[in-house]
This record gives sequence, C-alpha cells and structure tokens, in this order.
Amino acid sequence: MTENSLKTNSAVYCSLNELEGLAQEKLNRMTFDYYAGGAGDELTLRDNIDAFNRIKLFPRMLVDSSKLNMEVEILGTRLASPLMIAPMAFQRLAHEHGEIAMARAAGRAGCGMVVSTLATSSMEEIAEAGSTPLWFQLYVYKDRQITVDLLERAAAAGFKAIVVTVDSPVLGRRFRDMRNLFHLPSHLKCGNLTGALQSIPEKEGDSGLAAYIASMYDVSLTWESLRWITKQTKLPVLVKGVLRADDTKLAIENGAAGIIVSNHGGRQLDTTVATIDALSDVVNAANGKVPVIVDGGIRRGTDILKALAFGAKAVLVGRPMLWGLALEGEDGVYKVMETLKDELRNALILSGYPDVTSVDRSLLGS
Ligand SMILES: Cc1cc2nc3c(=O)[nH]c(=O)nc-3n(C[C@H](O)[C@H](O)[C@H](O)COP(=O)(O)O)c2cc1C
Repeated sequence: MTENSLKTNSAVYCSLNELEGLAQEKLNRMTFDYYAGGAGDELTLRDNIDAFNRIKLFPRMLVDSSKLNMEVEILGTRLASPLMIAPMAFQRLAHEHGEIAMARAAGRAGCGMVVSTLATSSMEEIAEAGSTPLWFQLYVYKDRQITVDLLERAAAAGFKAIVVTVDSPVLGRRFRDMRNLFHLPSHLKCGNLTGALQSIPEKEGDSGLAAYIASMYDVSLTWESLRWITKQTKLPVLVKGVLRADDTKLAIENGAAGIIVSNHGGRQLDTTVATIDALSDVVNAANGKVPVIVDGGIRRGTDILKALAFGAKAVLVGRPMLWGLALEGEDGVYKVMETLKDELRNALILSGYPDVTSVDRSLLGS
C-alpha cells in the first residue's frame, strides 16, 4: 500500500489501520513518536486496541434497516454520528493548518471536536474556521486566573461544553519523548496561552513537555477543584479520564455533566485498564444521570458499536485523525471520519440495530 493508492479512492480509506505506517513516512521522528507513543512499556496503548478485539458481537437478523439513524444529541450538542475528535495537543506539528484543518473537516463530516488547551492555534481562530460544535478541553494551571480566563473565552467563542482532563497532574513517563527531547519548535506556539506559557522549549535530557507540565500544572487538584471549575462557567463540564465507579459518583456529586472514560490513549499511567473494559462499571455508576463517552483504541465501526452496546453515548477518536491530517490535511481528516461513519453504518445494519440510540448489551451476548 502506498500513499498514492490511498488517494485513488477519494471518499474513504480502506482501513484506518493502514494510516499509521504511511504517516510515519511523512512525519519527523520527534513528532511521530509523540503522536504514536504511550507511557512506560506501552502496554495500555496496545491493550486499548486488543480489548476491543476480544469482545464478540451477537448480531440479530431480519430487522428492517431501511431507515438508519446515526444522529445523537449530547448535552445540547447534535452530531451526525456518535463520533468526535479527541482533544490532542500540537496539531500543527502534523500539518501547517493543524487544528483549523481538523475543525473544517469535522464541520464537513458533522462530527464534533474537542479542542485542547495546548492547541497550536487559538480557540477563537478554531471556532471561526469550523461549522461544527466545539468543546474546549481544559488543563488547570497553578495560576487559577488562567483557568477563569480560558473558561470565559471558550464561552464567548461559542464552545458548547468544557472537558476537564483529570488524568494528567503530571505527564506519564513517555520514553520516546524523553529520548527525542520532545519540544515545540520555536515557530509554533500554544495559541490559547500567553507569555512564557506559549512555548514548550527543549529541556536537557528530558521531554520538554514533561518539564513544562511539572512546572505549570496544578498537581493539588481534587474533586473540590472540579466543583470550583463548574462554578466558573455556565457551560456543561465533562470530566475526562475516569476509569472507576467510585470516581464516577464523585464526579457527578461535584457537578460533572458528563463522564469521559479515558486513559489518555495509554499515554499516562501504563498498565491501566483498557477503556472498553472499564466502561461498563462507569455506565452502571452513572446510572443514566449523565452521559458517558469513551475513548482509546477506537479504529473501526465495530469498535464504536461495542462502545454503544456497553452504554456509551458517543466516542472520541484520537490518533487516526492525526494520521489523516499528516497525510492529506483537512481532506485526510474528513476521510478518516467518513471511513468510520461508513463502517458504523455497515455494522449497524449487519448487527440488526439500525438506530444508534437503540444499541444495547444484548448485542454483546449478555
Ligand atoms: C498526540 C496526542 C496528544 C494528546 N493531547 C491531549 C490533550 O491535550 N488533552 C487531553 O485531554 N488529551 C490528550 N490526548 C489524549 C486524547 O484526547 C485521547 O484520550 C486519546 O488519544 C484516545 O486514544 P486514541 O488515540 O487511541 O484514539 C492526546 C493524545 C494524543 C495521541
């Protein structure tokens, strides 16, 4: 498979699993490793995918699938399919248009997008570029005024929800980034921040990002801090990085309007449970009070179907979007989304669940 053979089929890719190798040829080593890699021995990174493969489907037959519904609504955000782009930092490392290209592609495909605090364009520029509903992902800095400012700007720019990431008080031990001395080249900046916070400089003998986070992020955050954040904004606040039933209950008690089951794509604490294996407990604990979303290792329509069957309302997809961006810019991201939508459409019909909102656990044989 060559890059040219991918381009001849202009509508979709054959399989997202082929994209990583092609993107690797285009990206420099520091960027590819930062995108592809995980923490520690990358066991969770691999297990997120393997866990989906272990789950088997029990399709039902002879269900009228002439009317297919893939639309969902989550916290007032309407999506053409239960698919959103996960928040990912530094997208202009992949392509000069970075987050702007992502937002435009998401608009064309009717998918949502979560914009990272560490985006390489400002949230206002991204909001202007795309017609898609955007959510803003928040990292909490030691200086709380930064959080207040980011929340106000997100609301003013028309973002529909806030996603607070709780699994990253420090960065995971990412050996690839340590070896490559990961940093942000000086022509790129963190567009949502100002002054010294905009740059991720090189650090001798370490990942520049790990050093940045160690010095800037607030490691003293608690559930009380979540409550404080929810009081600073009128937007619904989702908590990203929950893997346990007790934390789900604490999140809801402290004002969370939604839960995102995530292990940060295996980039934080290695040997953490695969997200699809954690989803069921979180859904049970949420008990229908708030929507649950999942990310990590979703590469196929059947993966989305399995997440829905366990009770997720939608999924976030990370790395494949970056591979599409690196390969073909906005068009590549659009094709990644259309590929997943096509595969989901196919899987819904073949499993006998033509409406995404009616997929249930019986599809998993239980
Ligand atoms: C390159 C990269 C950068 C990321 N940056 C962020 C970030 O800034 N904020 C955040 O909450 N999650 C971040 N994540 C985690 C993703 O939001 C998501 O949880 C993860 O990528 C999902 O797994 P997947 O890549 O297997 O789909 C990042 C992931 C990657 C791959």
